[in-house]
Amino acid sequence: MGTDRMRKVCIVGASGKLGQYMVRHALDSGYEVVGVCRERSIGKLAAFADRITIVPGPTNDREVIRRAVAGCDGVLTVLVPWGVQQYSSGTAQAVLDQAEPNARLVFSCGWHISRDSEDRYSWRFTVTVRIVTWLARLVRAVEVDDQVEACRRIFASDRRWTVVRGSDLDEGESQGLPVWSRHVGDPILASNLTRRVDFALFMVAALTDDTLIQEAPAIVGRRSPSALAQADEAR
Ligand SMILES: NC(=O)c1ccc[n+]([C@@H]2O[C@H](COP(=O)([O-])OP(=O)(O)OC[C@H]3O[C@@H](n4cnc5c(N)ncnc54)[C@H](OP(=O)(O)O)[C@@H]3O)[C@@H](O)[C@H]2O)c1
Repeated sequence: MGTDRMRKVCIVGASGKLGQYMVRHALDSGYEVVGVCRERSIGKLAAFADRITIVPGPTNDREVIRRAVAGCDGVLTVLVPWGVQQYSSGTAQAVLDQAEPNARLVFSCGWHISRDSEDRYSWRFTVTVRIVTWLARLVRAVEVDDQVEACRRIFASDRRWTVVRGSDLDEGESQGLPVWSRHVGDPILASNLTRRVDFALFMVAALTDDTLIQEAPAIVGRRSPSALAQADEAR
C-alpha cells in the first residue's frame, strides 16, 4: 500500500513541538530531511543540525518554500493553529503551488476543521472553539480563522494531499499509530486524546499510505479508551 519512492521530505514548521517529533520520525524512516522554520527558531533544531538541512524563513514566504520543497517526494506542513496575518493559508498555498507535481502533501490541523457537514461536535467542543477563536481575533486582530481558510484551499486542490485532524494532545511515550475516522463524533474518537509524538507518527506514516490521499482523517490515540472499546467490539 503506498508510494514506494519516498526519499526526501520537507517539514514546514519543523521547530515546533509537532515539527520536532516529525523530524525525528522522518529521520528514523531513513528519509533525507529539509526543515523550514522561522529564523529565530533555528536553535530549537540544534539536536538535528548535523542531520538535516534547514531553510530559515517565514513559512508563508513563497521563495523560502520554493527552495525548501524542490526535489522532495513528500511535504509535511504544520498549519499554525490560529490566524496570524494569513500565515496558515499563505503557507498552505505556497506548498500547494510549489511542491513537486507528484509529491505527497500532508497537513496538520485540529478537529475543529470540517470537510463536510457530517462532523458532529459536542456543545462543549463548539463553545471552546468559539471562545478561543474570538480571543485569538481580539489579541491578534485577525478577521477570519485562517486555518479554516488554509484547509478550504487544500480540500479544493487536486493534489495528493491528506489533512490530519488532531484531537486534544498530550505528552508521553508513544502508544503506536493512532486510529482514525472520517468524521468527528464517530464513537471511536470519543476519548479526544492523542499523544503528540503519535500525531507526528501518523503524519509521517501518511506519506506512504495511498489510502489516505484526499482524506481528512480525525485521529485518536490507539490506546485511548474509545479506541480500545471499538477494538473490543470488533473482536
Ligand atoms: N495543541 C493542541 O492540543 C492541538 C490539538 C489538535 C491539533 N493541533 C494541531 O497540531 C499542530 C501543531 O500544534 P502544537 O500544539 O503541537 O504546536 P507546535 O508544534 O508547537 O506548533 C506551533 C507552530 O507554530 C509556529 N508559530 C507559533 N507562533 C507563531 C507565530 N506568531 N507566527 C508564526 N508561526 C508561529 C511555531 O513556529 P516556531 O517554532 O518558529 O515558534 C510552530 O511551528 C497544529 O496544526 C495544530 O492545529 C494541536
